[in-house]
Amino acid sequence: MIIMRRRSFSGIQPSGIPTIGNYFGALRHWVNMQDEYDGVYCVVDMHALTIRRSPQELAGNIRYLYALLRAVGIDPDRSTLFVQSHVPAHAQMMWLLSCYTMYGEMLRMTQFKDKSKKHPDNVNTGLFIYPVLQAADILLYDAHAVPIGADQKQHVEITRDIAERVNALYGPVFTLPEPLIPPVGGKILSLLDPTRKMDKSDPLPGAYISLDDSRAAIAQKLKRAVTDSEGSVRYDPEHKPGVSNLLGIYSLCEGITTREAEGIFSQGGYGALKDAVTEALDATLAPVREKVACYLADLPQLDALMREGAEKASAYADTVLRKLCAALGLLP
Ligand code: AMP
Ligand code: TRP
Repeated sequence: MIIMRRRSFSGIQPSGIPTIGNYFGALRHWVNMQDEYDGVYCVVDMHALTIRRSPQELAGNIRYLYALLRAVGIDPDRSTLFVQSHVPAHAQMMWLLSCYTMYGEMLRMTQFKDKSKKHPDNVNTGLFIYPVLQAADILLYDAHAVPIGADQKQHVEITRDIAERVNALYGPVFTLPEPLIPPVGGKILSLLDPTRKMDKSDPLPGAYISLDDSRAAIAQKLKRAVTDSEGSVRYDPEHKPGVSNLLGIYSLCEGITTREAEGIFSQGGYGALKDAVTEALDATLAPVREKVACYLADLPQLDALMREGAEKASAYADTVLRKLCAALGLLP
């Protein structure tokens, strides 16, 4: 008897080196979910074009991210790992879905509003219909579950709305996806402004810890991390966001609860907490840094892995695309 595993899909942009926010909020879950789900994971390079980038830097980031995903444990035997632009069905599907997505719906997307404010000189149409490409990503693989950070919930909800609209008009073409938001580590905050999320495109590198930061860099950034003037270590995200963020990071590295972490550090000061977080983070990240370096040392092999991933993804995506085309009345 063949047991069909439920499918999970997620994507990450090659926009700079991912941070520990990406790791704890996304990548680690993708890895753990492989036991239960048939995973499809994608480096969404076309999404990254909504913001102006240097071509050399983008190409480097795509390779780095693909290597990183392998290094953290995305296993090609249990999952499909590929680069979005290598599977043309994504762009085709996006057009078809855009005809079933309303202008007003896109105007309400908070990420669009945020990014247009941040880049007022480049509010391009791609940025506006970014969620339609994301919907295409998800719907092309009949994904049941979409593991994401809290900030992406709205995009999965709009994906469901688009899928339901198409299904209501043409019959059951699409599987309806559910967002899967991790309860802990759903949001790692900026080290310099712990009221905002840690973001790899933050203009201040001190605000985030990248997955390729050396131990010395981690130590230095944590030393400068914003806390508060109270001086006592307590887990209280509302009143002590900086300290609580550090306790959260420590507990994620060590696999304990934030209360347990609070217990360990409650007698000490912020310096001791920061030293321990440095230690724990470096122990988590050092093996990842080493594996990434191995993949990047053999680019022809890395490119071959990307090609294999794209072939596997295309085989599935093309069937779903053809199914939609047929339902809409487009000829084979
Ligand atoms: P992005 O860096 O915006 O491309 O995000 C890639 C993935 O990481 C998405 O699932 C995000 O929700 C997640 N993510 C990004 N930043 C954080 C953060 N600071 N805390 C938790 N998850 C995050
Ligand atoms: N928009 C997501 C982000 O900014 C990345 C993404 C693109 C994605 N396509 C996706 C996430 C499909 C989940 C599923 O983080």
